[in-house]
Amino acid sequence: MSPIAEVRPGLPRQQCRVAPSALALMESARQGLAAAEDEQSASARYVSAHLAALRAAAAVVAARAEPPGSRRRRPQSVWELLPKVEPALREWAAFFAAGAAKRAAAEAGLPRAVSAAEADDLLRDAEAFVSLAEGALGITPGQQRALDQHWSRFGVDFEPQVLDLAQLFGRAAAPTLEIGFGNGEHLLERALARPEHDFLGVEVHRPGIGHLLLAAANAGVRNLRVIAHDAIEVLRLQMAPGSLHEVQLLFPDPWPKKRHHKRRLVQPEFVALAASRLGPGGRLHLATDWEPYAEEMLRLLNDCSLLANCAGTGGFIDGAALEGRRATRFERRGERLGHQVRELLYQRR
Ligand SMILES: C[S@@+](CC[C@H](N)C(=O)[O-])C[C@H]1O[C@@H](n2cnc3c(N)ncnc32)[C@H](O)[C@@H]1O
Repeated sequence: MSPIAEVRPGLPRQQCRVAPSALALMESARQGLAAAEDEQSASARYVSAHLAALRAAAAVVAARAEPPGSRRRRPQSVWELLPKVEPALREWAAFFAAGAAKRAAAEAGLPRAVSAAEADDLLRDAEAFVSLAEGALGITPGQQRALDQHWSRFGVDFEPQVLDLAQLFGRAAAPTLEIGFGNGEHLLERALARPEHDFLGVEVHRPGIGHLLLAAANAGVRNLRVIAHDAIEVLRLQMAPGSLHEVQLLFPDPWPKKRHHKRRLVQPEFVALAASRLGPGGRLHLATDWEPYAEEMLRLLNDCSLLANCAGTGGFIDGAALEGRRATRFERRGERLGHQVRELLYQRR
C-alpha cells in the first residue's frame, strides 16, 4: 500500500534557503513527472515516475546538512538516507525502495514487467511524493523570490478571526473564493477578466502559491489576494457568513480509493460551511474529472437545504457555457487521460 493514505497537505513553512543542487534535483524530478505523463508505454511511465521520486528524495537529502559524527561504513542509498533526514517521509522511502526491482525489470525491457494500472498508480504516488518532498524542501528559486518580493502585496496571513473583505480590497465588490487553486492560472485569468470583482485564493501548496504570486506581479493585477492555509479553517474562521458572491472548488484531489474517501474536501461539513458563507443568490461551483466523486458531490449538494441546483433536476452543468470558465491544469490532465469532466453549479437560496 502506498503511504498516500497518510498525506495531509503540508502548511507552508517559514521561508527558508535551499542549496542550489537540491533545487536542481527537484526541478529535474518535476520534469521527470511531466515526461512520465506523456509516456505511452507502461514500462517507460513507471521508470520515469520512479526516477522522478528518486530525484525528489535526493533533493531532500542534498538540502539537509549531514548529521555531525555520522561516519558511514558503506555508502547508503537515497532511500536509506531519506528517513534519517526527513523522518516524516519514512514510509514513502520504504515504498519506493520496494519498487526499485520492478523499475529495474522495466528498464531492462522485460516483457510485462509493469501493467498500465501499476504505472498509473505509481505516477500518482510519485506526484504526491514529489509535492511532499517540495514541501519538505521549501520551494523553487523563482517561487522563493516571488514569495519574498510579493507576499506583502498579495498575501493575507491566516488569523483565526473574520476578515473584513471590503477593507482588504479597499472597496465593496462581489468577492469570489477559489479553494485549492493549484498554480493559480485559472484564478489569475478570472481576476484579470473581471476587474470589477474581487478574487481570493486559498491554497496550501507553497510552490503553487509562489507560481501565482510571480504571475500576479507580472500581470499587475489589483483585485487578487492569497491565503496560504487550510481551506476549511479559512471558511470557518476567516469568512463571515453571507460574505461571498462565489465559492469555487475546481478539481479537488479525488482520493479514488475507498479507504481514502475521508480525506476528500467535499464532505457534509464543507458543503454546509461553503453554503453558509455565500450571500443570497451566491454561487457554489465545483468541478471534477472523477465520476464517482462527481456523483457524491451531487448527492451532498442536493442534500443541502440552503442550495438550489442551477441545472435543475438534471444534475450537472455544461461548464464551457460559463462565462470566464477556463480549463485548469488538472482539468487538462484529466482530459489527456480521457476522463469526463463534471461540473456542478448551485445557488444560495
Ligand atoms: C488536484 S489539485 C487541483 C488544482 C487546481 N484547482 C487545478 O484544477 O489545476 C488540488 C489542490 O488543492 C489543494 N488543497 C488540497 N487540500 C486543501 C486544503 N485543505 N486547503 C487548501 N488547499 C487544498 C492542493 O494543494 C492542490 O493544489
